[in-house]
Amino acid sequence: MKIRKAVFPVAGLGTRVLPATKAMPKEMLTIVDRPLIQYVVDEAKEAGIEHFVFVTGRNKGVIEDHFDRMFELDATLLSRGKKAEMALLARSQPEAGAMSFTRQQAPLGLGHAVWCARDIIGDEPFAVVLPDELVLHKRGCLAQMIDAAAKLPDGANIVAVEEVPMELAHQYGVVGIGQRHGDGKGSYFEIDGMVEKPPKGTAPSNLSITGRYILQPEIFKILATQERGAGGEIQLTDAMIGLATTQKFFGYQFEGERHDCGSKAGFLRANIAFGLQRPELADALRVEMTRYLKA
Ligand code: G1P
Repeated sequence: MKIRKAVFPVAGLGTRVLPATKAMPKEMLTIVDRPLIQYVVDEAKEAGIEHFVFVTGRNKGVIEDHFDRMFELDATLLSRGKKAEMALLARSQPEAGAMSFTRQQAPLGLGHAVWCARDIIGDEPFAVVLPDELVLHKRGCLAQMIDAAAKLPDGANIVAVEEVPMELAHQYGVVGIGQRHGDGKGSYFEIDGMVEKPPKGTAPSNLSITGRYILQPEIFKILATQERGAGGEIQLTDAMIGLATTQKFFGYQFEGERHDCGSKAGFLRANIAFGLQRPELADALRVEMTRYLKA
């Protein structure tokens, strides 16, 4: 199954990182020198995605600007002979017509945000990528999932999952484990039940849903009438529970390190982890950190 389109739900208010997000979308927060949204768009490109669908909200216009051409900047870089910078901008520029933006008009939850993309997605399988979560690995998480999809029956839904300490499972969507194909990272299994934010002590496993999904378009019909669930929001997980009554769901345990950039500590850790991966920066960053920790 060819996955051509990806949905990026970017309407969230970012209240966990106020005041940074008062006037700026949280998806524009920077890890090293790129905004979060750029990392996930690059991850989707690597996975062969051709069309990028952003579900935005008020105050999110700068995301659209970020993926547009900046005429004045291009002209200045050209006149100053800044070829490396021009190439850098060109690399992060999606092709004309490869992006769509639609607004979620009220904060009704992730399921509702995905539903807002229904007309743009149409009748084909698609990916959902949450920009709060970054996965650091030589092959992007979504590309790994699409590789795994080639081994699965046509029409399967796939959810990226990762082990978390059992005492933190209540913060996530959690899956139950059915028949396994392999073990540990890089393996997949049939999902046997899902629950969004299970009350403490009731999670079916310690495998949490990680913000990367490959879904069949039938999810939209379910989302259209999905009732509010955990936190009073229309939950994507609840709609997936509905779809799992007629379609197969697989959990894919991706390879790589997950970084939850929606929390302050996770965001700071991601800056260091991604910084240490950059050859031109790693040594200088180590020197600075060592000097700081000694002081
Ligand atoms: C969302 C999903 C949840 C998933 C989480 C991953 O929750 O609903 O299933 O585990 O993302 O970050 P949220 O973080 O929006 O509460």
